[in-house]
Amino acid sequence: MSTVLLQPAYNDSPYNYKVVRQFAIMAVVWAIVGMAVGLFIATQMVFPELNFNLPWTSFGRLRPLHTNAVIFAFGGCVLFATSYYIVQRTCQTALALPKLAAFTFWGWQLVIVLAAITLPMGLTSSKEYAELEWPIDILITLVWVSYALVFFGTVMKRRAKHIYVANWFFGAFIITVAVLHVVNSAAIPVTLTKSYSAYAGAMDAMIQWWYGHNAVGFFLTAGFLGMMYYFVPKQAERPVYSYRLSIVHFWALVAIYIWAGPHHLHYTALPDWAQSLGMVMSLILLAPSWGGMINGIMTLSGAWHKLRTDPILRFLVVSLSFYGMSTFEGPMMAIKTVNALSHYTDWTIGHVHSGALGWVAMVSFGSLYHLIPRVYGREQMHSIALINAHFWLATIGTVLYVVAMWVNGITQGLMWRAVNNDGTLTYSFIESVVASEFGYIVRAIGGAFFVAGVVIMAYNVYRTSQQPAQDTEADASTEPQAV
Ligand code: HEM
Ligand code: HEM
Repeated sequence: MSTVLLQPAYNDSPYNYKVVRQFAIMAVVWAIVGMAVGLFIATQMVFPELNFNLPWTSFGRLRPLHTNAVIFAFGGCVLFATSYYIVQRTCQTALALPKLAAFTFWGWQLVIVLAAITLPMGLTSSKEYAELEWPIDILITLVWVSYALVFFGTVMKRRAKHIYVANWFFGAFIITVAVLHVVNSAAIPVTLTKSYSAYAGAMDAMIQWWYGHNAVGFFLTAGFLGMMYYFVPKQAERPVYSYRLSIVHFWALVAIYIWAGPHHLHYTALPDWAQSLGMVMSLILLAPSWGGMINGIMTLSGAWHKLRTDPILRFLVVSLSFYGMSTFEGPMMAIKTVNALSHYTDWTIGHVHSGALGWVAMVSFGSLYHLIPRVYGREQMHSIALINAHFWLATIGTVLYVVAMWVNGITQGLMWRAVNNDGTLTYSFIESVVASEFGYIVRAIGGAFFVAGVVIMAYNVYRTSQQPAQDTEADASTEPQAV
């Protein structure tokens, strides 16, 4: 990490921007690393020789490295950076407990480095999105409790009377992730690097997917909605379309998400009633999800013309469109008969990445492009043209990725269930793999577009950090408020 990038370029601010800068820079660094690993494993699906016949570079070990790097390293750093930025500005006070805030940065980076070492070594609890072994889990808990103390400590010493809605989403994300992590990671250690889950059988599966689905709902959604509620109004220079809707959206989302986990376990040993409950709750989840999306998009009322010239706003609006799309697709896939077709196929991978690339990554890029010049005390990003280039690379990359996986998924699902008149299977499994090859090539091309966009972003961020500092606190009085 370059010291130039982290120098206290802007000392006049009443806020603690150092830790925001640190997390923002590492978000860009981990985006490149995590997505490059994603691109590598996508290419392995076309050229299996790239597994190099070594355990450390095999698909099975690099896949969890990819998911951990993009979700917890990239996504996590974006969430820390934006929540620390937003909570200070909307509460009009500097971060509470600055030393603990610094610990959250270094502690989180240590978690990431330990993950990058242990996962390729094959050390894993084998729980998806919770693969890290127990000593790292304890470190995560320490960092997370510190995060909660810093965030809620700042809310408690706020100078603004109202707690702006973005902070509600971040607060729910912090509390829920703490509970999910502690309950799902409960395990009996055998050695320093091996433990066994405290739960068994169907119970273990249910707890794992209660965690897994709410990792999506709270880690990959609630915090990013917090970003949406702050950066969309700021960038559009419009108040939130409906503050009342944002509160309804918040309570409905947190109340319903928590029940939907069993849709990951359709047609398994999980009791049938639990599967049906998960399906129904997933269908209901469409309403609050779309309420939030509509609230974000309608915030642009009267500011649509800005989309012609502002690529940051484009990132934010396109992210909301993908959010709407993936939260329509998710409830459909939760219907048991649809899931009978989609489960185990690339359709799931397509759904994941329409949420992950289209929603999570795009809203992150838009937010970082808004935030980075401000925490460096710069007027704006070094190059608007490069933001535009990034926007198109990311959009085309996402569309190529998602469409390729939809086509593959439906093809695989239909081939696997095709039967001849005598009841035998029409296709062997390998025939479905051969039929998927073209989709895997298109997915890898889409991934390369996406990674290229992030590399451009890194250059743009670096150049921005080199510009002379200016007073950017002039817009501090225009923080979004409840209206
Ligand atoms: C350049 C961008 C990316 C590429 C090329 C890529 C590629 C891949 C590949 C090849 C897989 C394995 C699919 C399989 O097992 O068949 C995967 C899985 C996954 N990726 Fe990505 N990825 C990218 C970005 C992201 C981002 C930004 C996120 C999250 C924010 C993400 C989240 C995930 C998740 C959660 C899975 C596991 C899906 C599942 O188990 O159903 N990816 N990715
Ligand atoms: C209303 C909202 C949503 C619902 C009801 C929903 C529903 C579903 C369903 C039914 C599956 C397939 C389960 C299976 O067959 O194994 C799934 C998988 C997945 N979804 Fe969603 N989804 C929603 C939104 C999202 C969003 C916004 C994201 C990303 C930001 C996302 C990320 C994922 C991931 C990572 C998986 C793969 C989990 C795994 O098997 O590893 N979902 N979702």
